[in-house]
Parts: sequence; C-alpha cells; structure tokens
Amino acid sequence: MIVKAVQWIGGVDGYLELVDQRRLPAEFVKLRCRDVEHLYEAIKTLTVRGAPAIGVSAAYGLVLAVQSLTPSEGLGAALGDLAKTCDYLASSRPTAVNLFWALQRVRQCADEFVGAQPKATLREFQEVVLAEANAIYQEDVDMCRRIGQNGEKFIKDGAGVLTHCNAGALATAGQGTALSLMFEAHKEGRRFKVYADETRPLLQGARLTAWELQQAGIDVAVVCDNMAGWLMKQGRIDAVVTGADRIAANGDTANKIGTYGLSILAKEHRIPFYIAAPSSTFDLGIGSGAEIPIEERAREEVTAFAETPVTPEGVNVCNPAFDVTNAEDIAAIITERGVIESPNTDNIAKCLKAVPDRDKRISGSGNRIYG
Ligand code: MRU
Repeated sequence: MIVKAVQWIGGVDGYLELVDQRRLPAEFVKLRCRDVEHLYEAIKTLTVRGAPAIGVSAAYGLVLAVQSLTPSEGLGAALGDLAKTCDYLASSRPTAVNLFWALQRVRQCADEFVGAQPKATLREFQEVVLAEANAIYQEDVDMCRRIGQNGEKFIKDGAGVLTHCNAGALATAGQGTALSLMFEAHKEGRRFKVYADETRPLLQGARLTAWELQQAGIDVAVVCDNMAGWLMKQGRIDAVVTGADRIAANGDTANKIGTYGLSILAKEHRIPFYIAAPSSTFDLGIGSGAEIPIEERAREEVTAFAETPVTPEGVNVCNPAFDVTNAEDIAAIITERGVIESPNTDNIAKCLKAVPDRDKRISGSGNRIYG
C-alpha cells in the first residue's frame, strides 16, 4: 500500500491531511491542516516536503484561504486575498518550482473564472478553487505512475541502485518519482538492491526512503553520504536515480544537497545517473541551473545530530539545502511524457511540447512571478 502523504478530506469546507514527516520512522502521525499559517509552517519545517507534495499542498492551501472569505467581500476582493496568500505561501521555500507552479495555476484558474462569471457566488468560486487543486493532485498521482512505467526498465534484475534524499510517495501525491521506478520494477518481479543515502542533515534517506522501501518489501540498505564513492569503486552500484526540485530549460537539475557530488562520482565510475521528475518540476523560464535559487537553512540543522549537539558552540555553519547537477552528467530525465536521454534545451522542449499551452506558460513563468 502506497502511503498518502497529502490528502484533502471533504468538500470546500474540508481540511488538508498531512503525514508528519518529521516524526517518521519512529511515529506515523497525520496532521490536520485547517488554515494557511499552519500549512506555511508545515512546508517550512518539512512536515510536508518533496517538490510535488509541496506543490499539491500549496494548491490546497489556497482552498483553505478561500474558506474564510465572506460573501459580502465580493469576488474581486476574493481574488486580491488569493493573490496575497499566493505570495505568502510562495515565501515558504524557494527552490522547488512545483510550489510556484501550483500556486500560479490555481490563481490563474480563479482569475479566469471570475473574469468569465463575475456574478458567480462565493460558493461557486470556492468550488472552482477546490476543483483545480483536486486536478493538480490527481495529475500528480497519474504522473508518478507514468514516470515509474517509463523508467522501470533502468532498474535491471540483480542491480545495485543508489538514491539520495526521498523521492517516494512521501514526496508526492502518488507513488513518487525516483522510487516509482523501483516500485514498478519490483512489481515486474525484478530483484535489485537499493542503497539509500542517509542524506544529512535532515536524514530524508535514512528516515523516509528506507521506511518506504522496507514497507514495500524492497531490499534496501542505508549508507552514510560519504560511502557512495567506495560502493561505486567496488562495482556495487549500477545506476543512480534521484528526484528533482527544479529543472532548468537546458536540463541542469536542482535536487537535495549531495546530488551534484553523486553525479560527479557516477561520471568517474561510468555509472548512469538518472533524474525522475514530472513536467511540473521543469522551469522553462530559466536557461540554466545558475538561475535556480538555492535554499539556505538554519544552522541548527547542522550543529546537532538528532538533537544532540555535534559541533563546538558558536562555530560557523554553511547549510545549503540543494545543489545543481549539470545536464551533461545526466544520462536521462525520466518524465511522465517520456524519457529524455542526454538532456539539452532542444530535446527537453520537444518532450514537453505535448504540454497544453496554458501549462507551458505557467511552468515557464512560475519562479519569475514568485521566486
Ligand atoms: O528538502 P526536501 O526534503 O523537500 O528535498 C526533497 C528533494 O530534494 C527531493 O529529491 C525532490 O523534491 C524530489 S521529490 C519527488
């Protein structure tokens, strides 16, 4: 059974249910998110995390925002409030483009609805916002499955596969991106071993990826982040597969800090390095990875390990949460629309060409509006 990390419960008056990812694997607890401030905190603190899950949650955050409107305000004011909530949620985390993409998509849908039906009721407006959030959710579920189906062939029988951070069900509305390949290969009866990088400082690999794969009955071993090179040298890794937080038009890819180092190690050892990501993670509005904003997080994440201090008091700390892997070091980007081998500006544009015009405009401008 695939875990549901993000789920809307009820109709327009409902609430957002989130698995509290800070507490896994020790405890499996679901939180009820009933207001936008709570959701903002949940995104910021990584209670909900992973690019697609952040995007889906933010879309539902806009449903929470329109719940508190009153009919006397009028729909013009409602659009103004929605825009303010978009700005607020957009300031929660800077790197994953899915956040900006989802906010922009719901906002545009609301704008278009009010433009076309200025005399609609508040209830109708709220229903439109919820329907768009639900569409984003369902599309993410479908994209995850298709990514898995498109990429499972890269998980060969008997292979050793290295992954970093968590790009599983916990990071999406569906069955994940990188881990979706593994779930599909497992369904096919292939036997393989996954090495899950622990992923310092917040241990998404050790806590979340290991938990998900263990639940699914997939052979997984947790390794410290500094072990990958040695495993590769010993011939134990046949492929590296990770997710992504933002992919520039040329294929440069931001993902959890440490991914770039893995790509260099993989190149040195001639091991294919794959990225698995939905089209909502592409930011066609930026030419290269140099333009991707990299989140810098609190020093306390580094100065303590599982809340035990591990550094001298007052020492300087550097804590970038993401890095950028060069497109030329990526063997293929696996999307729901197909596999982009040796990604570059041309073949990415070609693969994403099937995107409806509206979505293309949104994904291309997401970070320029809010980032
Ligand atoms: O800081 P996080 O835990 O949100 O970082 C998540 C990642 O880097 C994932 O690999 C990425 O979002 C892809 S999730 C399908």
